[in-house]
Formats: sequence, structure tokens, C-alpha cells
Amino acid sequence: MKTYRIANTPLTVTRIVYGCMGIGGGWAPGLLTERTRKEALAAVRAALDEGINFFDHADIYGRGRCEEAFSGIWEDRPGLRSQVVLQTKCGIRFKDDPAQGSPQRYDFSREHILQSVDASLRRLKTDYLDILLLHRPDALAEPEEIAAAFDALLAAGKVRHFGVSNHSAWQIELLKRAVRQPLVVNQLELNLVHNQLIAAGTIVNQDEPARAIHGAGTLEYCRLHDITIQAWSPLAHGALAKAGVGRGEEKMRTAAAAARAIAEQKGVSLDAILVAWLLRHPAGIQPVIGTTNPQRIKETCAADNVGLTREEWYTLLSAGSGRSVA
Ligand SMILES: NC(=O)c1ccc[n+]([C@@H]2O[C@H](COP(=O)([O-])OP(=O)(O)OC[C@H]3O[C@@H](n4cnc5c(N)ncnc54)[C@H](OP(=O)(O)O)[C@@H]3O)[C@@H](O)[C@H]2O)c1
Repeated sequence: MKTYRIANTPLTVTRIVYGCMGIGGGWAPGLLTERTRKEALAAVRAALDEGINFFDHADIYGRGRCEEAFSGIWEDRPGLRSQVVLQTKCGIRFKDDPAQGSPQRYDFSREHILQSVDASLRRLKTDYLDILLLHRPDALAEPEEIAAAFDALLAAGKVRHFGVSNHSAWQIELLKRAVRQPLVVNQLELNLVHNQLIAAGTIVNQDEPARAIHGAGTLEYCRLHDITIQAWSPLAHGALAKAGVGRGEEKMRTAAAAARAIAEQKGVSLDAILVAWLLRHPAGIQPVIGTTNPQRIKETCAADNVGLTREEWYTLLSAGSGRSVA
């Protein structure tokens, strides 16, 4: 699989990232079952077999079970740790954590970041993370506190590189006032039907943008500052694959039909076309695919060899936006 260099790091990573949110058996509290463990490893093996060397986690995925299930891969493939890039996230806390009645919330306090990383390292059975991301912007974030946590994690050898997720350009600028390490990744929701950050580049100064754009300019900012952009939910969480005749909203069906037509013509799956559409963007976007189905993982990775013409790319943009460009 073709690779990208993550700027400001020595890391060379595959263009497609495997997202591990789905491998822990859901969100309900409970222990990891043997069946989930097996299915998780089958998915991770399928990703490795396609050549993927970059794995995305979060402390909260499956309430910790995703990281735990993933760690089984070390026994399966000794020597693998140094050949893969592990990324996890922190900063979201569940309801009732730590005490009954605590609300679901964001928490970028130094104490929480440090605790979260220690717990992720234990579950992942590793002594370092390649990249740690701040998961979703915390309105109460204090850049100096985050900086203190990052300094401590780097000094302890627990985290090698840092980044963010779901952050706007201005939020990154604010963090950079205090954080000394380069922020190397911004992971954002981007797919054919959730495309406003991409479509924003085509509607400057027009009267009727398709919908209000929060965070417009974020992609351009990341490109200007060598921040690798990752796309979460690149397969629209299966919504397009499930949007059949008479099912789903019209935009979804139109987008699915356009993607299917191109998929058929190129002899690949609809999911592969969704990923190829992101890869065609000149920002060097890294789709973080989350299917847990080994066959779908294989079919989706075929995107690495699918080239889309400018015409095909804009046909898909129009279908996914429900409007053609002016
Ligand atoms: N930073 C953030 O805030 C954030 C938020 C969400 C996710 N993420 C990351 O992004 C990764 C991907 O997210 P995601 O799982 O939402 O993305 P996704 O790759 O867009 O969707 C995967 C989901 O869609 C289903 N799906 C895909 N193709 C399908 C098809 N042809 N037919 C039926 N179902 C299909 C999969 O089911 P099967 O498993 O059955 O194939 C799975 O449930 C996550 O694993 C996580 O690492 C980050």
C-alpha cells in the first residue's frame, strides 16, 4: 500500500488507517468476550494483510475493550510493535465517571490526560504510543495544562507525537500558544455526504452555501501547517452502502447511486470508491476505515489503486452535496 510521511515525525504510514472503534463489541459496559476477541483479531489481521501499518484507537472505544482486544495481536505476530504506528485519543469521559451522577463531558485537564494515557498503555500492552490525539475540543481547555501533560508524557517516553481531532484552525492556534511539540494530526469527520469542509473550498463568497460551515478553512490551515488530515467515518458508517432504492433520504440515495456507477465501471466496491474519493484530494487525507468485516476491509483497501478523474471526483462531490458547483 502506498505511504505518506507524517510531517514533523519520522513516521512513514500507509495512506489508509485502520480504525479500531468497532472491534470491542459495542459501547455497553461489560468485559471482553472470547468471541469479540477473536473477531477483533480477525479484523486486525485482515488490515495487516492488506499492508496497513497504522491503527487508530481511543481510550473510550468499547469502554477500553477495543484497545484490550487489539493487544492480542502482539502474541499473534511477535516483533510487530516496532513495525506499526499506534495512535489513541483522550479527553472524553463517560457519564458516571468517576462517580455516579458525573455527566458525559470533555476533560483536557493534565490529571485526566496523564491517567488516560497510562490506562491506554496498560490495555494496549505497550510502553509507548506513537501519537496521542485530543479527541474533541474541551470548552474548558487550558493550553498551559495540556502543554504540561504533553511535556510529562514526552519526557517519560510514553508518547512520541501529539495531535488533535475535531479541532478548528483557531483552536489549534490557541493550543500552539502553549504546546511546545508540533501538532501533527487533525482527525475530522469527512466522507462523501459529510463533505462540508471539502466543499467549503468551492463556495467562497457565494450567496447560498449548502449549509452553514463550522470550521471553514480547517483543511487549508492544516495543509499550510503540515498537519496530516485524517478522515473518520470515511464509509459514512455504512449509510451509503445501505441506501437502496426507496430507502434513506434522497441525497443519500443519489450519492450512493453515483458511487455505485463508478464502482461498477472500475470493478471495485462502493466502499472503495468512497475511500478513493478522499485519497484523490490533494491534502493527502488519510481515511480511517472502521469496517470490522475482513472481506470488506480487503475490498475497501483496493481504493489504494483506484484513480479518479477530475470529472468523476466532481460528479461524486455534487451527488454527495445534493447540488452541483456553480
Ligand atoms: N475522532 C473521532 O471523533 C472519531 C469518531 C468516530 C470514529 N473515529 C475513528 O474512525 C474510524 C472509522 O469510523 P466509523 O466506523 O464510523 O467509519 P466507517 O469506516 O465510515 O464505517 C464503518 C461502519 O460502517 C459499516 N459498513 C461499512 N461498509 C458497509 C457495507 N458495505 N455494508 C454494511 N455496512 C457497512 C461497518 O459495518 P461492518 O463492521 O459490519 O463492516 C461499520 O459499522 C473508527 O474506527 C475510529 O477509529 C473517530
